[in-house]
Amino acid sequence: MKIVCIGGGPAGLYFALLMKKLGRHHDITVVERNRPYDTFGWGVVFSDATMDNMRAWDAETADAIEQSFAHWDDIELHFKGRVIRSGGHGFVGIGRKRLLNILQARCEALDVKLVFETEVDSDADTPDADLVIASDGINSRIRARYESIFRPDIVTRPNRFIWLGTNKLYDAFTFLFEKTEHGWFQAHIYKFDPTTSTFIVECPEHVWKAHGLDRADQDRSIAFCEQLFAANLAGEKLMTNARHLRGSAWLNFQRVRCGQWSHFNGRSHVVLMGDAVHTAHFAIGSGTKLALEDAIELTRQFTEQGDTAEHIPAVLARYQQLRAVDVIRLQNAAWNAMEWFEVCGARYCDQLEPEQFMYSMLTRSQRISHENLRLRDRGWLEGFERWFDARSGVHSTDAIPPMFTPYTLRSVTLKNRVVVSPMAQYSCVDGVPGEFHLVHLGARALGGAGLVVAEMTCPTADARITPGCPGLWNELQRDAWKRIVDFVHRESDAKIALQLGHAGPKGSTNAPWVGAGADRPLAEGDGPLAGGNWPLIAASAQPYLADGGQVPRAMTRTDMDRVRDDFVRSACLAAQAGFDWLELHCAHGYLLSSFISPLTNRRTDAYGGSLANRLRFPLEVFAALRQAWPQQLPISVRISAHDWVEGGITPADSVAIARAFKDAGADMIDCSSGQVSAEQKPTYGRMYQTPFADRIRNEAGIATIAVGAISEADHVNSIIAAGRADLCAVARPHLANPAWTLTEAARIGYAALDWPRQYIAAKSQMETNFQREKASKG
Ligand SMILES: Cc1cc2nc3c(=O)[nH]c(=O)nc-3n(C[C@H](O)[C@H](O)[C@H](O)COP(=O)(O)OP(=O)(O)OC[C@H]3O[C@@H](n4cnc5c(N)ncnc54)[C@H](O)[C@@H]3O)c2cc1C
Ligand SMILES: Cc1cc2nc3c(=O)[nH]c(=O)nc-3n(C[C@H](O)[C@H](O)[C@H](O)COP(=O)(O)O)c2cc1C
Repeated sequence: MKIVCIGGGPAGLYFALLMKKLGRHHDITVVERNRPYDTFGWGVVFSDATMDNMRAWDAETADAIEQSFAHWDDIELHFKGRVIRSGGHGFVGIGRKRLLNILQARCEALDVKLVFETEVDSDADTPDADLVIASDGINSRIRARYESIFRPDIVTRPNRFIWLGTNKLYDAFTFLFEKTEHGWFQAHIYKFDPTTSTFIVECPEHVWKAHGLDRADQDRSIAFCEQLFAANLAGEKLMTNARHLRGSAWLNFQRVRCGQWSHFNGRSHVVLMGDAVHTAHFAIGSGTKLALEDAIELTRQFTEQGDTAEHIPAVLARYQQLRAVDVIRLQNAAWNAMEWFEVCGARYCDQLEPEQFMYSMLTRSQRISHENLRLRDRGWLEGFERWFDARSGVHSTDAIPPMFTPYTLRSVTLKNRVVVSPMAQYSCVDGVPGEFHLVHLGARALGGAGLVVAEMTCPTADARITPGCPGLWNELQRDAWKRIVDFVHRESDAKIALQLGHAGPKGSTNAPWVGAGADRPLAEGDGPLAGGNWPLIAASAQPYLADGGQVPRAMTRTDMDRVRDDFVRSACLAAQAGFDWLELHCAHGYLLSSFISPLTNRRTDAYGGSLANRLRFPLEVFAALRQAWPQQLPISVRISAHDWVEGGITPADSVAIARAFKDAGADMIDCSSGQVSAEQKPTYGRMYQTPFADRIRNEAGIATIAVGAISEADHVNSIIAAGRADLCAVARPHLANPAWTLTEAARIGYAALDWPRQYIAAKSQMETNFQREKASKG
C-alpha cells in the first residue's frame, strides 16, 4: 500500500513506523511542515499503562523512550502555605522533542520516508496514495476540508493557559496555586528530562484580562508568571519555545470530537488520527496517549483484517468503532478534570482546607475513587481520613472512612452520612401509613443508614400524587406516623425525617402499577373524591403531560394562604409524631417546584417572572414551616437543580435558589434534578447529580445532600471526603437491600459498625464472605 501521513507528530510518526514494521513493502511517507528538531511545547506525560501497550507493539521504541523518560510517582500540592504530597500515581514524562526524535529515528531505521519543511495543502496533493493519514494536529486542515463529512464538534473552553518550561527540577507532579487581587492562578509542573520541567500556568479568562495579560507579549507574560510563582521558583527562570505564536501565547483549550473519522476522496481513503480527530485536556495529560493508541489500533486492524488496499474500508470502520468508545471515556474524565481547574478558583480554593482541597484535586476526573487512593498511598489516605474524622468530631486512632463519620445539624446528630432517600410507596389507605410502612421504614432504620426519610407526605387529601400516598392532616395519620417513629427510635439509632410535599399539577394520578401507570390521570371511579380525579392546582394552568394530563387551575392568593397553612398544620403534627427532621419537597414538578421553574410558572403577577418572584411562594411556605417546626430540629429542602430542558432551571440557577433558602433559614439542600418537564433529556451516569450538590455546597455555602446513582460505599466516601456533599441519599439500592449500609461496610472491610443486636450473628459471616470474594479475585 502507498500511505502518506500528513503531519509528523506522535500520531503520524508512530503509525508510519508500526505499519512499516507490519509490512516492509508498504511505501510510507510522513510529510511535516517543521524541521526535524523544531517543535513547540516541552514535556508530555503518559501513564505506565501506555508504556506497556507501546512495548507490546514496538519494543525498540519503548526501550528508547524508557531510557529518556523521567518517571515519578508522587503528586505534590502547594496551597495556602502548605505542601501536601501523596504517592503511587505512576507517570512517565518525556520531552516532546525527544519523543519525536525517537519516533523519527525509528521511522528512518525502518525506511519510512520523512519529508520535512513541506506544507501539505490537501489530501489531493498525493493522488496515488491508497491511504492518507490526516495526523495534522488540532487545527487539521484535512478535517476542515471535509467538515461536512467529519462533522467536528469543537468546544472552546474559558480558561487561559501558557505552556512554559523551566530548569528548576521537580521530583513530583507539582501543582502550585497562587491568589492575586483578581483571582486564582494554578501551575501544573512536571520534570521531563534531567534538566527541564514543563510549567503550564492557567487561570480563568476574567483573571487573565484583569491582569492585562491579553495585552501582554510573551516576555511580559513570562515576567508576570515568574513573579507570581517567585517563592517556588526560587530565582529560576521560566522559558518559552512558542516564539512562533503571535500575540500573547496564552491559549484556550479546544475540545475536538468528530462524528465521522474517515472518508473516500475518490482516489484515496483519508482517515483522521490523534489531535485532528479528538483532543484531551492537559489536566489529565493524555493527548499523546490517545494519538499513540490510535496508531496502535489502526495497525492492529490491518494486522487482523489484512494489510492490502481492499481491506481499507473495513479496517477504517472498525478503527473508528473501537477507538470512539475509548476516546469518549477518556474525554469524559478529561472534561471533569478540566472543569475542576476551571472552577476551582470560584468553588474550592477559598472554601476548602488544604487537606480536603488535595483530595478534591486528586479525584477531579471522578475516575479515581476513595479505594483507588487507598491502593495508591494507604498512609496518605489514612492520614486524610484521620484529619476528616477529627473535623467530624471523632478522635480515634483508627482511621474511619468518611461515610461512617457522624454529622450534626442543629440538635440532631446522625451516626453516619447515609440517608435512605424518600421513596413513594403508594400503599396507604386514606393517607394513613400502615403495617407496610412500619415494616418498610423500620427495616431500613435497622439497616445501618444514619437518616431514613419517609416518602413524600401530603398536607391535604387533594395534595396527594395518588390515592395511595400518605398524608398528615389528621390525628389518625399523626398517630400512625408516631407508631413508626417510635419504633425507629426505640429499636435503632437511626433518625427519621418526614418529607412534606404537595403534588400540585402532578396529582390525582395512578400508582405506577395501576391502570395507565404513573403520571397518568386516574380512571373514572378510581379516585376517592368525586368519582375519579380531583381538581388540581399549580403555579400556572399547564398540565404536566401534554397528551391527556389534567389541566390544573392557577393558584389564587387565597389558595396560597390555604396551602401554606395546610403545610404548617402538617409540620405541627409531624413534630407531635416525634420526627427528627423535616424536608420540604420543592422538586420534581410538584406544586412548589411548579412555581420555581420557568417552564411551569407562566404567571405575570408577583409570583412569576424573575427567579425572585418565582421563589416568593415556596419561600413563604418555608418561612411558615421554619416558624412552626421546633427550632432545635433541622429542615432540608429538596430541589430540582437542573430541569434538563432548554430554558429551564440550570445548575447556576440552583445556586441562587439554594442561597435564597439558606437566607430563609434552610439547613440543607437535597440536590435532585428533573421530572419538572416531560421533555427532559437528563444525562444519566454514576453519581450524575453530585456535581449539583458540589456546586451548591461550595458556591452557595450551604450543606448539601447528593443523590442519584450513588450505589457503592466507594461513591459515598469519595463524595463526602472531597466536600462535594455532606450527606449521600441512596434510593433504589435501598429498595433492593434495606441493610445497604451494613452490607457496604462489610464489603469495604469496615468492621467497627454496630449492627442491631438481633442480627449480630450475620455480621462476621458477611464480612468473611466479602473477604473471601476479594481474595479469590486477587
Ligand atoms: C499545554 C499542553 C500540554 C500538553 N500536555 C500533554 C501531556 O502532558 N501529555 C500528553 O499526552 N499530551 C499533552 N498535550 C497534547 C499533545 O501535545 C497532543 O495531544 C499530541 O501531540 C497529539 O499528537 P498528534 O500527532 O495528533 O498532533 P501534533 O503533535 O499536533 O502533530 C501534528 C503535526 O502536524 C504538523 N502539521 C500540521 N499541519 C500540517 C500541514 N498542513 N502540513 C504539514 N505538516 C502539518 C504539525 O507541524 C505537527 O508537527 C498537551 C498539549 C498542550 C497544548
Ligand atoms: C420508587 C421511588 C419513589 C420515589 N419517591 C420519591 C419521593 O417520594 N420523594 C422524593 O423526593 N423523591 C422520590 N424518589 C426519588 C429518589 O428519592 C431518588 O432521588 C432517586 O431515586 C435517585 O436516587 P437513586 O439513584 O439512589 O435511586 C423516588 C424514587 C423511587 C425509585
